[in-house]
Amino acid sequence: MSDSVPQRIAHLRGEIKRHNYQYHTLDAPLISDAEFDAMFRELQTLEMQYPSLVMPDSPTQRVGAAPRLSFTQVVHRSPMLSLNNAFSEEEVRVFDVRNRETLGVAEVEYSVEPKFDGLAVTLTYRDGIFVQGATRGDGEVGEDVTQNLRTVRNIPLRLDSARLAKPIPLIEIRGEVLMFKVDFIALNRQQADKGDKLFANPRNAAAGSLRLLNSRITSSRHLSFLAYGAGAVEGFILPHTHAEQLECLQKLSVPVPQERHVVHGLDGLLGYYQKIGELRNKLPYEIDGVVYKVNNISQQTRLGYVSRAPRFALAHKFPAEEALTTVLDIEVQVGRTGALTPVARLAPVFVGGVTVTNATLHNEEELRRKDIRIGDTVSVRRAGDVIPEVARILLERRPVDAREFNMPRTCPVCGAHVTKQPDEAIWRCSGGLFCPAQRKQALLHFASRRALDIEGLGEKLVDQLVEQKLVHTAADLYNLNLWALAQLERMGEKSAQNLLDAIEHSKQTTLARFIYALGIRNVGEATAKELARHFATMDNFMTADETRLQLVPDIGPVVAQSITTFFAEPHNVDVIAQLRAAGVQWLEQAENAVQLLPLNAKVFVLTGTLASMSRDEAKSRLEKLGARVTGSVSQKTDYVVAGAEAGTKLSKARELNITLLDEQQFLQLLNENEMSSAAG
Ligand code: IVH
Repeated sequence: MSDSVPQRIAHLRGEIKRHNYQYHTLDAPLISDAEFDAMFRELQTLEMQYPSLVMPDSPTQRVGAAPRLSFTQVVHRSPMLSLNNAFSEEEVRVFDVRNRETLGVAEVEYSVEPKFDGLAVTLTYRDGIFVQGATRGDGEVGEDVTQNLRTVRNIPLRLDSARLAKPIPLIEIRGEVLMFKVDFIALNRQQADKGDKLFANPRNAAAGSLRLLNSRITSSRHLSFLAYGAGAVEGFILPHTHAEQLECLQKLSVPVPQERHVVHGLDGLLGYYQKIGELRNKLPYEIDGVVYKVNNISQQTRLGYVSRAPRFALAHKFPAEEALTTVLDIEVQVGRTGALTPVARLAPVFVGGVTVTNATLHNEEELRRKDIRIGDTVSVRRAGDVIPEVARILLERRPVDAREFNMPRTCPVCGAHVTKQPDEAIWRCSGGLFCPAQRKQALLHFASRRALDIEGLGEKLVDQLVEQKLVHTAADLYNLNLWALAQLERMGEKSAQNLLDAIEHSKQTTLARFIYALGIRNVGEATAKELARHFATMDNFMTADETRLQLVPDIGPVVAQSITTFFAEPHNVDVIAQLRAAGVQWLEQAENAVQLLPLNAKVFVLTGTLASMSRDEAKSRLEKLGARVTGSVSQKTDYVVAGAEAGTKLSKARELNITLLDEQQFLQLLNENEMSSAAG
């Protein structure tokens, strides 16, 4: 190993950590995403080459780990308490009077903070390293969600203890995991595109994402953390006021809320409540009130606890934001995958700081369950401050002529018939690329970064291209010319030329990208790669029937049917022909290229730790030889590679009588096959 490798790794880790902090905690990035990605990839590559240098606090450890079967339980070192709630000024006054009387002071100093609407967690740091994270559970015992919390980008994997006089041997940091409003909107948009369940609000989305058994999915969910205090601390004395303790956490690079203050007396409390109430809609995350805490820790101790809640703290909650209005009509919106969403058109009503005129009714089942009719008086809630929805109906106000709504049997935009899978709640337009609503979204998908990657072809441009009838299908993109483009709004000759260059550039692609770009339902990026690998040519793929499709790893009857349905539509086949005629191309592999690889179609499961290489490296070497690496042992598994401390997968393999390879045997198998494949 070159001497400079450990130094380079340390440098990259330091830089990545610094930029993560700038980006996720300070919201002030200093470099571009591309520069950040390049550093991250360099670190990943080095760690792959030198697995002995991988550390638990390396930023690469944030990408998630293999799915787990369940969470283990964690007993909290100090209990995670709840808060008493107040809904009126009178209750706040009583709180302040009692504090003054018990403490015998004329005025109490309070530390005040927003009440985050997320999920309580505790993070344990030993000698500054994040070693365990757990949910609140019942306050005494929670669930170990360490792997998932590692993927939360603004949680430091190592505390910046250098900024303190001495490091802290052990500290529990308490706070809330949240999903920012923008991340919630983006997630629900993705869920809708996939036809997956929508989350009702950012809190549910955060809770759902944190409690996933597969931390790789958590990693993709953009969670954030905000600390509101410390739990158990050993071998270190924290400052004597709550406000200073938060300062101290901030010094350690732990994210704490900026909207915190120190105030005095009842007026200070109510003033803060008022101020945060006005700010609420502008905050990037959801809050459901504010929290008042007696600032001085020894005063806190004197006030003590009643059952599970401290006497020294109080949550002053905001009233739920709901308002009454009437349903003027119910319409249907068509999304990218053709999903039909019923939407209530409402008489305008001011709720949660904005005027609401629409409320999503989610899907037909939801509509039936709530039995919402045109003409009904409803209470509208800005669920999660973001998407307005109907909270309840005032049946006593239902007019005699209230009309029931039925989902249309044809698409309201293009007239194609609508279909529904038996196990789904969503009706979809079958018009595919014929449907203008879907067409725009299909074009955006076709041009997206992981598909044909046409830089500069964004939403506004696609809207114009479709509305001005310059583009109907993806193939039309390749017939655009400078003259036509320069006519468009806000499109100079230079940007028009750039776009044409990007379109030209996109013609050289890969089969996997092309398949993905087609936007076949249920065919995501990973499936597209498998399909390209298996079929090697577009013609092979297009002519495969459902039985042959199901021979491809991970493809079951649902995906197979989506594919055959797509190709049964002559329009789709035409567009593909036009794209190819326009010059879109990829290297088609010799038809039997895949079959020639020595480990073709052999299924491997890796378990335990290998001394000589990382799991990623083992996986990539196997895949280069044509093998597939999966996460769980089943009858279909050919080999289980068992490294040190292999667990349940090993016993499962023994149970199913699957060939086991120890590290030595595995290396031999790799070497032999790598040689034979190089020779071939
Ligand atoms: S302090 C000893 N501060 O509210 C007091 N809690 O209803 C412990 N919460 O379980 C809690 N924001 O998850 C505190 N700024 C804040 C908070 C906060 C949200 C949550 C916390 C707690 C729940 C109690």
